[in-house]
Amino acid sequence: MAYIVAEPCINCKYTDCVDVCPVDCFHEGVNFLAINPEDCIDCGACEPECPTEAIFEEDELPEKWQQYVELNAKYAEEWPEITVKKDPMPDADEWHEKTDKDDLLSPEAAS
Ligand code: SF4
Ligand code: F3S
Repeated sequence: MAYIVAEPCINCKYTDCVDVCPVDCFHEGVNFLAINPEDCIDCGACEPECPTEAIFEEDELPEKWQQYVELNAKYAEEWPEITVKKDPMPDADEWHEKTDKDDLLSPEAAS
């Protein structure tokens, strides 16, 4: 079991979650972060830190976002680790209000 990042993170990427993770299990794509399920110790520290409420314990992940279990595992393998908080995406506050962003998740790794 692990914590999962879901749709609300897309195009926001506030990265508050990164700062509190004791085992550095976040990985960065261009517009989303993924949690490596192999490394997550289920401490729960990241969940309340996310301004978009994008992080869920796997058991509590809403049905509409079940695909994010696999997406987190896949992208955590492909994307580089992020261990330090950085600025959110430029229009994060606008994207925070939007829903139906699933199609916008980029498979590209952050550079
Ligand atoms: Fe890191 Fe804990 Fe969040 Fe897992 S639950 S990603 S270990 S802060
Ligand atoms: Fe994304 Fe929330 Fe972290 S928006 S980067 S899961 S703080």
